[in-house]
Amino acid sequence: MLSYLHGFHAGNFADVHKHSALVLILAHLQKKTKPFCVIDTHAGAGWYDLSSLQAQKTGEWKGGIAAVQHENQVPVAMVPYLDLIEDFIPENRGFSDDSGAEGDVGPDGDTYQEPPLYYPGSPFIVQKMLRENDHLALMELHPREYETLDRRIYHDRRVTLQKRDGYEGLVAMVPPAIRRGLVLMDPSYDVKQDYARAARSIIAAHRRWATATYMLWYPILEDGFDHELHAMFREIPAAGGVLCSEIAASHGGGKGRMLGSGLLIVNPPYQLDEQLADIGEWLRDVVHLPGPGVHFQDWLVKAQ
Ligand SMILES: C[S@@+](CC[C@H](N)C(=O)[O-])C[C@H]1O[C@@H](n2cnc3c(N)ncnc32)[C@H](O)[C@@H]1O
Repeated sequence: MLSYLHGFHAGNFADVHKHSALVLILAHLQKKTKPFCVIDTHAGAGWYDLSSLQAQKTGEWKGGIAAVQHENQVPVAMVPYLDLIEDFIPENRGFSDDSGAEGDVGPDGDTYQEPPLYYPGSPFIVQKMLRENDHLALMELHPREYETLDRRIYHDRRVTLQKRDGYEGLVAMVPPAIRRGLVLMDPSYDVKQDYARAARSIIAAHRRWATATYMLWYPILEDGFDHELHAMFREIPAAGGVLCSEIAASHGGGKGRMLGSGLLIVNPPYQLDEQLADIGEWLRDVVHLPGPGVHFQDWLVKAQ
């Protein structure tokens, strides 16, 4: 079942949390001249028009990227992410098929007169940070999201895209020819089995490619599915440890509503823990969570 479309949620507090960590990990990979490889198992449509009917319907980006951009003082660790977002202008704008063009009438009868503001998803955040010999491998299963992303990536010889199941595809693809790298897994959690499937896929991939960094995003819900995920990640024998970073409302989510955003990072780069701690403490008070904000960070597995 593929009912999830990221266009409704792009730029929300979870994207800010996940993408600011993503940019920090990529910046670390850029420190060495040796090429790196990124595998993005759940890629989405690539970028999002925040004036589109989808984005305007939920308005989630207002409590995420817009709330952050509104602040005068930001933690130093947020700056590379914010610079990238502010500079982002899609090259293939003509292919946007969900945008609410100026003057369109939205579902609530509003007309959209504001200039469009674009938010890059993980494929274009990574693409912006690739160098000549780096590689990005994308997977996306939703037929329309796949086609949109395929048109948007256009011809970039550093990037490959497959319409493939990201959990199975990851295990089949590792280790890649370029041995330094990052795996980003950002499922849509349409079904609760996604938590266990994500953990099993990363555990299997880590057995074959133990030196990579793995980052899994997960929603924090009242139901507590994330507890099982933590238990599975505690068993990963990662030399670089397993770090957990969460921002969430202490209560106020309601049935099925997202309380917060979590990241599990296997083999995080040096000092990412300190950078993410600064970001999490700040985001907790700045983004719009459904209740009073709490920040949690800990090592589930200590680095050796
Ligand atoms: C949360 S969105 C990804 C957002 C993207 N990573 C970003 O940061 O911009 C999840 C995506 O995974 C896709 N998807 C769902 N199940 C999948 C699977 N088993 N394999 C690959 N993609 C899948 C969905 O169609 C959706 O586009």
